[in-house]
Amino acid sequence: MYLAGRGLSSLQDSITRLKTTYPDLSTSNLHPLELDLSSIATSVAGAKSFLEPRLDILIANAGIALDNNTAVSSDGWERHFQTNHLGHFAFITTLLPLVEDTAKEYGEARIAVVASVGYTFVNGIDFDAIRKEVPPNMLGFIGGMKRYGQSKLANILFALEIARRLRERGVENVWVNAVHPGEITLLHFVGLVLIRWKVRLSLPALEAPDSSLGFLHL
Ligand SMILES: NC(=O)c1ccc[n+]([C@@H]2O[C@H](COP(=O)([O-])OP(=O)(O)OC[C@H]3O[C@@H](n4cnc5c(N)ncnc54)[C@H](OP(=O)(O)O)[C@@H]3O)[C@@H](O)[C@H]2O)c1
Repeated sequence: MYLAGRGLSSLQDSITRLKTTYPDLSTSNLHPLELDLSSIATSVAGAKSFLEPRLDILIANAGIALDNNTAVSSDGWERHFQTNHLGHFAFITTLLPLVEDTAKEYGEARIAVVASVGYTFVNGIDFDAIRKEVPPNMLGFIGGMKRYGQSKLANILFALEIARRLRERGVENVWVNAVHPGEITLLHFVGLVLIRWKVRLSLPALEAPDSSLGFLHL
């Protein structure tokens, strides 16, 4: 198992903490993988540094929320869209041939993209706005949730589209899904209230901790 993230030393710390917290867990096969999703180049580089011969399960979990940095990323995109969608897009599509080969040889493989019910805060993706500096009316909590929501909508559409293209090519044993992981510390209290109010209208009973196990079922 590989833990992917920014900075080898913090990844090593996480591995050490896992070993301490779960002494029964076999962590001898736990490795760090350096991955910075904030640019296409570093996301592809992270994927290419994965040198194992098989990849059974890929969970795309990392993400940012309510980032009020107004500048576009080094690739020229709004930052939630860059990190939460484009970074994972580059990482996953670079590794997809290995995932497909794994499924061919061992029966099946899986990709789970951690999305969010935050997608309900937008009606679509504003493709003009995501290439520009963030305007004042898209800052703060509501604006931040909208930009976050766009990136999470992109996560869902991306997962559905890879799944569709795989099936179209006759690949039946690679499962690609998007999931809402439950609600925990990252979102502010007001956000939780808003999300729960929104979610009750469409998806009842999504609450941590049970729903945080959701992606394990995918
Ligand atoms: N928390 C919630 O209530 C909630 C609800 C719905 C969906 N989600 C989704 O669940 C996922 C995890 O959320 P969380 O609450 O666990 O978030 P979190 O505690 O803030 O953790 C996010 C992780 O993403 C990593 N990350 C951020 N930018 C990165 C980059 N450029 N390259 C690589 N890694 C990067 C962070 O790494 P560093 O340690 O280096 O900063 C951190 O480990 C996200 O996709 C989020 O949208 C969360």
